[in-house]
Amino acid sequence: MENLSMRWGSNIVLDDIDLRLQAGERLVVVGPSGSGKSTLLRLLAGLQLPTSGRLRIHGEPQTYLRLDQRHPPDVRLVFQNPALLASLSVKENVGFLLYRFSRLSEQEIAERVDMALQAVGLAGIEEQMPGELSGGMQKRVSFARALIEDPTAPQSLTPLLLFDEPTAGLDPVACTRIEDLIVRTSELVQASSLVVSHVMSTIDRCAERVALLYDGRFRWIGAVEDFRVSTNPYVVQFRSGSLQGPMQPAEN
Ligand SMILES: Nc1ncnc2c1ncn2[C@@H]1O[C@H](COP(=O)(O)OP(=O)(O)OP(=O)(O)O)[C@@H](O)[C@H]1O
Ligand SMILES: [Mg+2]
Repeated sequence: MENLSMRWGSNIVLDDIDLRLQAGERLVVVGPSGSGKSTLLRLLAGLQLPTSGRLRIHGEPQTYLRLDQRHPPDVRLVFQNPALLASLSVKENVGFLLYRFSRLSEQEIAERVDMALQAVGLAGIEEQMPGELSGGMQKRVSFARALIEDPTAPQSLTPLLLFDEPTAGLDPVACTRIEDLIVRTSELVQASSLVVSHVMSTIDRCAERVALLYDGRFRWIGAVEDFRVSTNPYVVQFRSGSLQGPMQPAEN
């Protein structure tokens, strides 16, 4: 990202930011509510175009995602809310990409859906509907959907995995399972990962680097070891959860 800005009317959400994610790196982005974290992920996924600046993936400018096209760079987004399609079964949700674009048979897709559900600890629920699942289960199904592999797709360079608050609202054991999954998957497919999270255990387990976003800008970027001890006022306030400090809650 170079000089990347995103605004909605007079609301400047991202203000001239620069960030380079290394191939294979896991970065956790933290920042208060409304600071633009989800916006950043949507830009990376091609769901929105920036107001100005450059966003390149493997050196190629990111383009606006079209539903009828396969996206050339392999970018997968796990949304902040599960965003499952309510009228489709778990199998149809998880296998959505494969049903739509791959040349795999029904049987081959079913096997891959089964593997993806096993990976998130939800084997055997493929015929259920999203409305029959708990919130945490829906979240894990959305994870399986993002992680499913299409062996008939052209081989892509390092995939980019984007996780928007993947462990918010989960119990501590479910958190650990998801955090392990993020690390394992990133290593398995040699992906770069960008994880948005406020959960300390997720930062501890998933981050190699941490970036703190506030009021449109990265206020601190560094190694996770440094994040734990940094005396930067933004980092100190984030770690302590104090009301005193440079970060003030949004007015609404
Ligand atoms: N489609 C849109 N139209 C207008 N404003 C928007 C739109 N999407 C986001 N915004 C604004 O952009 C800002 C950042 O929103 P964003 O969802 O990226 O925040 P966030 O950091 O992910 O917050 P949270 O931690 O609550 O998820 C907010 O002020 C929001 O109102
Ligand atoms: Mg968000």
